[in-house]
Amino acid sequence: MQSFTQYTPTEIVFGRGAQKEAGKLTKKWGGSRVLLVYGGGSAVRSGLLQEIKEELDREGIACEELGGVQPNPRLALAREGVEKAIAFQADLILAVGGGSVIDTAKAVAAGAYVPGTDIWDIWMGKAPLTGALPVGAVLTISAAGSETSDSAVLTNKETGKKAGVNSDLIRPRFALMNPELTYSLPKYQLCCGITDILMHTLERYFTPVAGNELTDEIAEGLMRTVIRNGRKAFADQTDYEAMSELMWCGSLSHNGLTGLGRPKDFACHKLGHEIGGHFDEAHGATLSAVWGSWARYVYQLDVPRFARYGRKVWGIEEEEDGKAAVMAIEATEAFFREIQMPVSIGELSMGVQPEEVLRELADSATKGDTVKLGCFKKLGAREMYEIYQAANH
Ligand code: NZQ
Ligand code: ZN
Repeated sequence: MQSFTQYTPTEIVFGRGAQKEAGKLTKKWGGSRVLLVYGGGSAVRSGLLQEIKEELDREGIACEELGGVQPNPRLALAREGVEKAIAFQADLILAVGGGSVIDTAKAVAAGAYVPGTDIWDIWMGKAPLTGALPVGAVLTISAAGSETSDSAVLTNKETGKKAGVNSDLIRPRFALMNPELTYSLPKYQLCCGITDILMHTLERYFTPVAGNELTDEIAEGLMRTVIRNGRKAFADQTDYEAMSELMWCGSLSHNGLTGLGRPKDFACHKLGHEIGGHFDEAHGATLSAVWGSWARYVYQLDVPRFARYGRKVWGIEEEEDGKAAVMAIEATEAFFREIQMPVSIGELSMGVQPEEVLRELADSATKGDTVKLGCFKKLGAREMYEIYQAANH
């Protein structure tokens, strides 16, 4: 087991009616002037935004709004949010939505902390992230895990670059998680979320470091739980128990727990982010579209690991490791198909791409072949291109 630091400070209120704590927790975490960040309309239509405003008002908290966050959240709107937060003298940023909204809130929180610094410089690593206003979240979709994670991902539409930062300074101080709020999700978003939750643990499971018994068991248990409840939720997304399990899995899959004691890989996320940034595809779908191609490209480096994954997560009984490993990859793809997720680039709305586009994506992901991605197998531009190519049908 490698040495590690675990830091998961987010106060979580989970269950029916959790959003009613918005005023009290905002106050507890130092908010008296709040910038309320939300998306393209679902929180307005459901009445959730109004409910949150009433809770804030009850505690005498003033608020300003930043609405209109889109999936693959835009740098431009986050910059606008920074200006608003500074002008309003906000002391806490409250996100009402999913990963895109929470990531925008985190970016605003980081930008407003250092007026005069452009947030994209922070996101590109040209300026340090030195602090952030406190962030709170009212979660409406189980997916990205941003409600407890240390990361925030923005898309610069001018360049097509989608990039994230990781810092404990932007972990939300609190998250209000009511599974009932996710009943209204479009089926496609529900399934993108299930995929993303599974992927956040898969990206921590396949690494070169062995010998993490407890972390392995937690990871495998989480993946079995996502698969079982993903199926139930797919059949009935008003199944409170299933939606609860998914929501809790979403937070634990990406707060670090399922990867403690070993490095993260996250090469599939890099492959997916290039697609999301350039073609505006939903995040979860970009991952299912490339995972099988990545897995076939790398699995021979550690066949017993893939075989174990197959046996422990998918219940595969095959005794020969080579066969079990291939069956594990096939079972994962079959699950993606079952919940109507794409398993190739051709099944995304962007469709099959010309070779030169794949080369550009690989080049962009690896910053012109200057960085290697992942750790299970380190991938340069050529390897990334070959994985895209294998998925391009
Ligand atoms: O904008 P609205 O109208 O709210 O609609 C949203 C959006 O269209 C809708 N939605 C959300 N909750 C709803 C709902 N519709 C009806 N009822 C509800 N209760 O769902 C759509 C997708 O929302 P989004 O916030 O984009 O989803 P998700 O949570 O999957 O976030 C995806 C973003 O997070 C990033 C992704 O790259 C992507 O940009 N990620 C962030 C991470 C992090 N910060 O730790 C890690 C992830 O790996 C990921 O990269
Ligand atoms: Zn993800």
